[in-house]
Amino acid sequence: MYSLEEIEREIKKCKKCRLWKSRRNPVAGEGNEKARIMFVGEAPGRVEDETGKPFVGKAGQFLNEVLEANEIDRKDVYITNVVKCRPPNNRDPLPDEIAACSPYLEKQIDIIKPEIIATLGRFASSFILSLYGFNSLPMASIHGKIFNVPLHGIKIIILYHPAACIYNPKLKKVFSDDIKKLAELKKNCF
Ligand code: URA
Ligand code: SF4
Repeated sequence: MYSLEEIEREIKKCKKCRLWKSRRNPVAGEGNEKARIMFVGEAPGRVEDETGKPFVGKAGQFLNEVLEANEIDRKDVYITNVVKCRPPNNRDPLPDEIAACSPYLEKQIDIIKPEIIATLGRFASSFILSLYGFNSLPMASIHGKIFNVPLHGIKIIILYHPAACIYNPKLKKVFSDDIKKLAELKKNCF
């Protein structure tokens, strides 16, 4: 059985897709190995690529604020991305990059065994939904919804990407309301 550290070591030397050429630091993920909530984003951005840590740039700061307001401590959760290296100029990750990288995420999920997976944005949402056999729908119709996977003891909650909220401030309130639902789900689950 793998450990999170072993996965991180593999990611650090990984060249399974073209993104290794332009990355500075791969971002394996960060947080509590025993986390009951796992956040999954899209791919590292500029500051994440510079620091090797997930969600530390502007989007991460907004996420932190909303988590804090809802008494969810980042120390208690695990945060990672579908793709572990930054796509040039933050372009969307390509299907072959997602296919090459996602086995790392699947192994992280196997180790952490979260009770709740909170997906941030459409790439993470469609990847996680399809992993557990659900069809993906546009974010506008599924954000804030909870998908139950009893077989794995997992609940999936779909969230907008915090960066989308920065580009479109109307989404900030929607995002906070959805995180509130996550906080309630957490209370009911644990
Ligand atoms: N956006 C993401 O999807 N992930 C990060 O780690 C940072 C920004
Ligand atoms: Fe490897 Fe993933 Fe980085 Fe591609 S994005 S090089 S698959 S760690």
